[in-house]
Amino acid sequence: MKERELNFELFAQRMQGLYDAGSADQVRPYLREYERLMAYYRCAMMEIETKFNVLDEELSLQYDRNPISSIKTRLKSPGSIIDKLRRRGLPMTLEAIEENLNDIAGIRVVCSFPEDVYRLADALLKQDDVTLLQRKDYIENPKENGYRSLHLIVAVPIFLVHEKRIMRVEIQLRTIAMDCWASLEHQLRYKKEGNFTPDIARELKECADISAELDRRMDGVKNYLKTHKKKE
Ligand code: GTP
Ligand code: MG
Repeated sequence: MKERELNFELFAQRMQGLYDAGSADQVRPYLREYERLMAYYRCAMMEIETKFNVLDEELSLQYDRNPISSIKTRLKSPGSIIDKLRRRGLPMTLEAIEENLNDIAGIRVVCSFPEDVYRLADALLKQDDVTLLQRKDYIENPKENGYRSLHLIVAVPIFLVHEKRIMRVEIQLRTIAMDCWASLEHQLRYKKEGNFTPDIARELKECADISAELDRRMDGVKNYLKTHKKKE
């Protein structure tokens, strides 16, 4: 067995909290490796979060308001990692996780206005230690259900005691209005009761369009105020 290869069933059981104490010795080395990999992803999230905080600080001086409303980070849970590997028919190995899953480390940046989304994304991607691997613009091209956000997959180095590692991070940038819709839609979609009928889907799509309209109108107010500044 390869050094970092995991025992699929034992590992999956352990990760899902169903682990039989009898197999502790067999699983322990893999768990340590897994925890180490997850720590690296946490470091990469910290790097990216700090980069956004720095940009927010600078841009707030320039524009007299904060482009970032909030930042949330999340590490994908062991259960979700296992489900995704299974769904994609991938081996239960740490290599498979690192090579194929781009959303182990996730960071969501909720912005005030749509222009902030693009300004922040551009400023981040200009940094010479950030490499863009994938960009999906669901604001320019919303999903059929109305979902809007800018998604980036980036690679960023983390500097450890004896080595430098390049880690992938999934970044979602969206406005407060887009985040409001996405959070509620997510809750409703994962609720067990009730059916997602075509009528419900249409209603949710309409709500998404209303939230996009809210962004446009608020942007209009902001631009009006900018061009009609009070004389001091
Ligand atoms: P997966 O993560 O495997 O689904 O990869 P993908 O490349 O198909 O995903 P995509 O970039 O379209 O979306 C990834 C993430 O965006 C999801 O895990 C959600 O957090 C968010 N997302 C995408 N579509 C929707 C949606 O319709 N509603 C909500 N609430 N969130 C969404
Ligand atoms: Mg995902």
